Amino acid sequence: MTHRIRMLPSGHTFECEATETVLEAALRSGVNLDHGCATGTCGECLARVVSGSVGEELFHDYVVGDAERLQGYALMCRSRPGSDLEIEAHEARSAADIPEQQLTARIVRVDAPADDYRVLHLRTPRTRTLRFLAGQSVELKLRGLQPRVLPVASCPCNGMQLQFHLRRDPRDPFAERVFHDPAFTAPVELRGPFGEFILDEEDPNPLVLVALDTGFAPMKSLIEHAIALELPQPVVLIWFAIHPGGHYLANYCRSWADALDDFRFVPLVLDAGRGRRLTASEQALAVLARLESLPEPRVYLAGPADPTRDLEQALAAAGLPGERLRMETMP
Ligand code: FES
Repeated sequence: MTHRIRMLPSGHTFECEATETVLEAALRSGVNLDHGCATGTCGECLARVVSGSVGEELFHDYVVGDAERLQGYALMCRSRPGSDLEIEAHEARSAADIPEQQLTARIVRVDAPADDYRVLHLRTPRTRTLRFLAGQSVELKLRGLQPRVLPVASCPCNGMQLQFHLRRDPRDPFAERVFHDPAFTAPVELRGPFGEFILDEEDPNPLVLVALDTGFAPMKSLIEHAIALELPQPVVLIWFAIHPGGHYLANYCRSWADALDDFRFVPLVLDAGRGRRLTASEQALAVLARLESLPEPRVYLAGPADPTRDLEQALAAAGLPGERLRMETMP
């Protein structure tokens, strides 16, 4: 049986099966409720049920006092709905709402979608997942190496299964380790999240996501979050490949057309032939040509530092107002 949950004061609504907890359903639906352990120990998911009734309450160590219970408070990670519910709770809406965390994850898989690209899959303990907003980055530390900051490429709806993208780079010891000695089950120390490159969920305007190379990683997180939220506005993903094999998850991108009402994937290459690369101005014109039919689009731009800054300047010079652009650069 499915129940409808309405959050206050945000007004977010989502469906919750009678067999899942309110927290599980909220996260799956892109609603970032305050939480910590997800196992009934920390008390961070305590929220007030304003109307409706909680059905099954799973075992928890955290003690909810009698006075709190009388006021309707319950742990969202331990409560399954017994009816439609209205719940008063705090949701993370900005980077400042998410505390910095430190945890240890394990490498569970490394995919090789192209010769020079790897997709690193990490898993956190079930009781210690990573809370982050789509588009944010995390510091990863492998034994014996300097920490490396990478954007999370997966959806915040699953803080236990995390994904990161890497391009082969002999000057990058972290990437070299992942390419040549991934050491399955190796521990990875995580710290974060960091960064303000997040979705403005209140903005109803079309989203244009412009990725250069592995700048695709935060875009993937943003799009998966947009799908979880069921955002209705058009989404355009423009992905510039800088190196051979640079559209390393192109088929995955095409599959988003099924999940979003109005989604366009535009793969472009910087190689202009005869050893010449598109200039930043030419890239900007290629982007702006895709915006023409969109009213007041919001542009999110991410990629390696130098070409991304060049493209930002070229977009500004070509007339894109600065307040309509968010940018994230990667080392
Ligand atoms: S998240 Fe820790 S008690 Fe619910």
